[in-house]
Amino acid sequence: MNTQRKDYTVEVEALLQQLTLDEKISMIHGAGLFRTEAVERLSIPALKSSDGPMGVRNEFENGKWIPAGTTDDFVTYLPSNSALASTWNRDLAYWAGNVLGEEARGRGKDVILAPGINIKRSPLCGRNFEYMSEDPKLTEELTVPLIEGIQENDVAACVKHFAANAQETDRLMVDTIIDERTLREIYLPAFQAAVQKAGTLSLMGAYNKLNGIHCCENRNLLQTILKDEWGYDGTVISDWGAVHKTKEAAEAPMDVEMSVFDNFDDYKLANPLKEAIKAGEVSEECVNDKVRNILRMMFRLKMIGEESENRKSGTYNTPEHRSTVYKAAAESVILLKNEENRLPISPKGLKKIALIGRNAEMIHSNGGGSAEIKALYEISPLMGMKTRLGGNTQVKYTPGYFIPSKEEQGEENWQQDSLDVDKMLEAGDRELQKKKEEEKLALSRKKGQQLLEEAVQLAKECDEVIFVGGLNHDYDVEGHDRSDMVLPYNQNEVIEAVLEANPNTVIVMVAGSAVEMPWRDKAKAILWCYYAGMETGHALADVILGKVNPSGKLPETFPVTYADTPTGENGEFALMGRVEFKEGIFVGYRYFEKYQKKPAYCFGHGLSYTAFEYEDLQMLSSEEEEDISVKISCSVTNAGDVAGAETLQLYVSEKMPCVEKPLKELKNFRKIFLEAGEKQTAEMVLRKDAFGYYDVDKKAFRVNPGTYIISIGASAQDIRLTGEVTITKEYFYQ
Ligand code: BGC
Repeated sequence: MNTQRKDYTVEVEALLQQLTLDEKISMIHGAGLFRTEAVERLSIPALKSSDGPMGVRNEFENGKWIPAGTTDDFVTYLPSNSALASTWNRDLAYWAGNVLGEEARGRGKDVILAPGINIKRSPLCGRNFEYMSEDPKLTEELTVPLIEGIQENDVAACVKHFAANAQETDRLMVDTIIDERTLREIYLPAFQAAVQKAGTLSLMGAYNKLNGIHCCENRNLLQTILKDEWGYDGTVISDWGAVHKTKEAAEAPMDVEMSVFDNFDDYKLANPLKEAIKAGEVSEECVNDKVRNILRMMFRLKMIGEESENRKSGTYNTPEHRSTVYKAAAESVILLKNEENRLPISPKGLKKIALIGRNAEMIHSNGGGSAEIKALYEISPLMGMKTRLGGNTQVKYTPGYFIPSKEEQGEENWQQDSLDVDKMLEAGDRELQKKKEEEKLALSRKKGQQLLEEAVQLAKECDEVIFVGGLNHDYDVEGHDRSDMVLPYNQNEVIEAVLEANPNTVIVMVAGSAVEMPWRDKAKAILWCYYAGMETGHALADVILGKVNPSGKLPETFPVTYADTPTGENGEFALMGRVEFKEGIFVGYRYFEKYQKKPAYCFGHGLSYTAFEYEDLQMLSSEEEEDISVKISCSVTNAGDVAGAETLQLYVSEKMPCVEKPLKELKNFRKIFLEAGEKQTAEMVLRKDAFGYYDVDKKAFRVNPGTYIISIGASAQDIRLTGEVTITKEYFYQ
């Protein structure tokens, strides 16, 4: 916990008094795409930020989205947050954060615009790959160590996008209508933990409106919840172009306005604010408060003050960073299906193996929007397979399906155009998007026919065939959502044909969000790999060849079709204007369980090359005036003959709730590494916050006395042990 930090009041006030209004205003808005202005007279440096979640982004010209084009900004490419979340490994989250923070500092940054922790409400959201999970608890548990890891390096994390930024289409104007209970139980907890448990030094105000008011001008969100209730004393930075009104943004605790244009003096918190102050419409004290928050953060980051000589200098592209990335990538791979022990494939005596599908050789680091980076390298699955197998095995590759080129798709510079209203309207036009998809499909069919035939031919010739397909950053992308969950480029047809030619084909999906897998019953083995960073290819090859035993678990539900999801059921596609979160708290598995819908693969699912046995559930509960403590333990045995790791998931349900609640909710988890035959005891503790729901009238979380069911399982549907615990008193907490 980082809450006992020095607040530097004396130092901050001393500096504030010396600053002129012009100087103060220059500190609260962008003076470059990724920096504010320095006040050299007082040795206050510019605040330098950079995207993003998967590594430190390349340098741009100060005011233009034109890459600087230097060769010194290649960096370590980290696993996306979806990949990290699939590891269910808090230590890895810390180490990944540490790499990101150390590289940000090494590149001279003060703020790294990460992590993205929005809840995955719809599988169609273009930025799902940047986010962790549909579940607030899993998100929280990984966010906290990730931020701690970043901030160890005297760099501020900037947790984004606060709050409820659940779609990309119309992201600048969409009004997300969320009831109070849902907001508190689903969309805010990870942010609250980022503030109160991890002590994040900065936070990014989202583009969207929340219940009628833009997030960066939303006093209920920023003042009442963030400042007054959570006690936040860090800075709030706007998303790039998320400020719309001078007076409102000035009067809300939103400290730094950033945007995508180079007319920096015209930003709402620049000259327009100065004029508003002169006209007496806004008090200068609003500016002072913002500057206080910025200066306090600067002291804490050792950018200024007595400790500045001790500020960490960071570094980038170290072998240690790459080794952390490899570990995270290897633990992120999820084995969805493995009939007849199809996997692993033994490399011994393997003469010829086929890799079919463009994602076998495609590079993903350079796409996705602001999360793009200039990776020092990226090992593709094909390269991973070749480097691991060496020269005695022939690794044959064929693309399998056709992807239209950027020119064929009419691509432009998205970030420059990201505030363009016409483009937004286009993205929200369902008919137009469908038409575009159909055109792409027709083109893929036409140009892909020969590739399909070649794929079938190769699949027939080889004993071992791996199909590597999925999505790429044309789909998992900032700025617009997908129009459906269908695999693009006619892949379904190709997969069916390849499976028919060789029923032993292993299917690998590389993607950032769920896709429909209509062929999944025919495939014997399916691996899922979120964008997992520069070592993806090595990690995948090691899993396929059995050097690594997969231990990833799904951080989200994979529905059979989009229509099965709450947003699908609401008929939501790229909604514009006003979007009501009608499903309320029933997001992800909470929805599937309530309506007894069978997903393709459930939340928490992930197989291993070994089998784990759970037994001997023990529970010890005690109640104090202020809190509850339930100590839970059970033993897990690795009953197979290879070492492996299992994530035990602990779900809680109330037996007879007096308000409607999800059938069960994840409240803790534990990842355990076991040698073959080894047995260990896993311990987990639950506190009162594992039993509450948000009581809107009391404006607090409330625990009702009663019986609660504790379930421990290998996934949300594979529950192995259950027990009951009784709570006798009523508790409240914030
Ligand atoms: C994104 C942010 C990003 C910013 C700066 C915006 O478009 O929403 O996540 O940090 O651009 O590139």
